[in-house]
Amino acid sequence: MTGVIVVGGGQAGFSVASTLRASGYDGPVTVLAAEPHPPYQRPPLSKKAHTGPVRVELVPESFYRDRDIDLRLGDEVTALDLTARTVLTRTGTRVPYDHLVLATGARNRPLPVPGAELPGVHALRSLDDALTIGRALTTARDVVVVGGGFIGLELARVALAGGARVTVVELAGQLLSRAVSAELEPSLRQRHERAGVRILTATAVRALEGEGRVERVVTEQGVLPADLVVYGIGAVPRDELARQAGLAVHDGVLVDEQLRSVTDPRVSAVGDCARHPHPRADGPVRLESVQNAVDQGALVARRITGSAAPYENLPWFWSDQGDVKLQIAGLRSPSDAVHLVPGDAPERLAAYAFRDALLVAVETLNWPAEHLAARRMLERRTPVSAADLAGTTLGALARAARTAEVRR
Ligand code: NAI
Repeated sequence: MTGVIVVGGGQAGFSVASTLRASGYDGPVTVLAAEPHPPYQRPPLSKKAHTGPVRVELVPESFYRDRDIDLRLGDEVTALDLTARTVLTRTGTRVPYDHLVLATGARNRPLPVPGAELPGVHALRSLDDALTIGRALTTARDVVVVGGGFIGLELARVALAGGARVTVVELAGQLLSRAVSAELEPSLRQRHERAGVRILTATAVRALEGEGRVERVVTEQGVLPADLVVYGIGAVPRDELARQAGLAVHDGVLVDEQLRSVTDPRVSAVGDCARHPHPRADGPVRLESVQNAVDQGALVARRITGSAAPYENLPWFWSDQGDVKLQIAGLRSPSDAVHLVPGDAPERLAAYAFRDALLVAVETLNWPAEHLAARRMLERRTPVSAADLAGTTLGALARAARTAEVRR
């Protein structure tokens, strides 16, 4: 038995390996990871970059030993041979497999302007990036954040908390255009501005300039002084190994509803690098989130050990941006109708998204209870219409339903 090879030692790859063992798989399990660190959590990197080295390992190293998981760090996979069923690594090792799971994740989109290579300009993805940015933040006075997405807004608030002057430069007409509705965004923006972040939307960066290191950012709206520039302008899937091997790829490895490559059923793809059908979406989607990475890894491991099921877990996301806790349940599409609903305290706000008059997604600011109620209802596929929610909230509806059940 040649076993399972997992390419990638992130949250998705870890989930495959650990679930294989938890499900009783007794063949060889090999995780080939390009990074030098054992699998770690990425969410704290942008939220706690200022606190310096944080302990982010998912499990102690003994976990891998105790479960006979062969974790090989720092040896990148350079080619897949689907016919011979082997993978080749940079050091020239060839490893055979029965099942191959691609959990290669995504990489940051590079900043396409002159000066992006200057010292003092950083992107954040890895633990090492976070440590570098954390050190730079201890002395930075003028921080320019390019991209008002998840990374940009989390880091902007971290930099602000450290005492820097912070400007966010976003190309789109709103912050978090990929994730958050146009209806909720003004409130989110206002909270960041009130805290002291300067925000420029619909603004392109033309160049980064400086003598020997970055000193200013040239934008369409003028020149911004900067001794530290951090950019987060989106991610692209790491699907080139799959493409070179002849697997179908289209902005992610194309997989079926059980996350098997549509080209080769002995290959699966999970997490940020996989594009898959989802019952809550119109076409195949690629989701960049911890929930998706963990759940997809577990689903593939359970399929390998004999319990196959389609992937239909409810997508959910969260982001901590200073005093703003953003949570999202479900998948919204641009044509959905969005209703804003104030919470029972001034800092709380919800946006309910309806498709064909039924609730499909909920965005909340500083309202975890409403987020949890949304997750429960959407997971159970309880039909909720705009009329059901007139003048009330999901939390209140759930409480009323529980009371009615007790009385029955
Ligand atoms: P993102 O897609 O969330 O945001 C990128 C932002 O950059 C968008 O608002 C986009 O309009 C903007 N943009 C694109 N090109 C630009 C340009 N040339 N100039 C200025 N703005 C530009 O991606 P982000 O923030 O880079 O995050 C990368 C990855 O990390 C994603 O997979 C994200 O999901 C993940 N992440 C998730 C977090 C969370 O869920 N809390 C936190 C941090 C990262």
